[in-house]
Amino acid sequence: MEKMKVGVLGCGAIASIYIHNMKYHYDKVEVISCADLLPEKAEFIKKKYDLKKAYSNEELLADPEVDIILNLTVPSVHYELNKAILNAGKHLYCEKPLAVTVDQANEIVALGHKLGLRVSDAPDTFLGPGIQTVRKLLDDGVIGDVTGFTANLFTHGHELWHPSPMFYYQEGGGPMRDMGPYYLTALVSLLGPVEDVACFASRTFRQRDIKGTLIDSDVYTQYNTLLRMKSGVYGNVNMSWEVWNSKLNGLEIYGTDGMITVPDPNATTGPVFVYHGDRYTELISAIPRDEIVQRLMFGRTPEAQSCYEEVPLCYRGGKNMRGIATVEMAMAIADGRPQRASGEMAAHIVDILDSMERSQETGQIVRLSTTFDRPEAFYPVAEGVWLGDLGTESSFV
Ligand SMILES: NC(=O)c1ccc[n+]([C@@H]2O[C@H](COP(=O)([O-])OP(=O)(O)OC[C@H]3O[C@@H](n4cnc5c(N)ncnc54)[C@H](O)[C@@H]3O)[C@@H](O)[C@H]2O)c1
Repeated sequence: MEKMKVGVLGCGAIASIYIHNMKYHYDKVEVISCADLLPEKAEFIKKKYDLKKAYSNEELLADPEVDIILNLTVPSVHYELNKAILNAGKHLYCEKPLAVTVDQANEIVALGHKLGLRVSDAPDTFLGPGIQTVRKLLDDGVIGDVTGFTANLFTHGHELWHPSPMFYYQEGGGPMRDMGPYYLTALVSLLGPVEDVACFASRTFRQRDIKGTLIDSDVYTQYNTLLRMKSGVYGNVNMSWEVWNSKLNGLEIYGTDGMITVPDPNATTGPVFVYHGDRYTELISAIPRDEIVQRLMFGRTPEAQSCYEEVPLCYRGGKNMRGIATVEMAMAIADGRPQRASGEMAAHIVDILDSMERSQETGQIVRLSTTFDRPEAFYPVAEGVWLGDLGTESSFV
């Protein structure tokens, strides 16, 4: 397969890891150019990665050498830029979110279909060995039928670490729109589409201190939600930038025969654990009844924890394989089949996010207007996709 040529639009914090992985770890695509509103940022990235060209947005869109544009700009400009990318005849891979509203996201997906171009969107962590191992466990029926899930991420906000965090507190920002897509994409890629959403959201801290300057927060900074999937399975997804710390951060999937601890959906790999119901039943049946509570403490003691099994990952991969879905999309184009990170799935994620806010504002359960086909499992083909030692260990390079 001839390498597809990629141009990067937006040379901020997240650009380097994409370009690094595509340059050093993947052999199916080649990053040739970059553009940014600020020419000095494009120049910096061009030099850092020895790219062929750094130029303006217009020059990037008009470059006949570029097949795919990676849109790594901030969410508020995704809608307009994504349309411009497609109208320029380029395949689109966008950092999340695809757009700020579901109507905008649907319009972008429809435009892609109309023009015969691919629309794809981050996060691609669901293709990593962590979540693909969970997919394999579910496919193999290891925990029986899925009965529920919980996903939690509680922190105190990105101003504590991000170099330019303002956009996180403007329209399209907030913890659910920023971090929710990792957890939601993991969930829907594993369990299929969501049907109903119920949500409470709050904005306790009206202002945020960004390096000594107080800015207004325009977004909800805590969401507590319940999702019911089309399959009937339901669970909760809670994201906050109002909590100093929590021991409950993580994602778990429950089944009739056990449960799975899913690794961090914001990384491509991490340990996967299965808790086996039959082992727990065996353990408990060997303990005198009057000792059960003290010895097991409702699953918290080392004795109870012994029913966890760490499962070997289904393929090798680094912690940060950002860009893998762009590579998979390039392969799908060559093979004439749908890519796994579909535009429809990305629009569905935006629909879930919009619906959470609508539920908070109306006090109602909101039925989603979008759906998508659950992507094919990636683990059966993953090993053949790249060269090198498979992504990097750090978030930034
Ligand atoms: N930083 C992270 O950890 C992270 C992780 C995952 C996803 N993301 C997502 O990636 C995207 C970018 O995040 P970031 O952290 O790199 O932001 P950033 O602010 O560091 O970089 C964005 C870049 O886009 C440029 N830009 C803005 N408007 C533009 C326009 N109209 N035309 C051309 N360039 C424009 C800016 O000049 C800037 O260089 C966001 O959608 C964010 O949600 C970020």
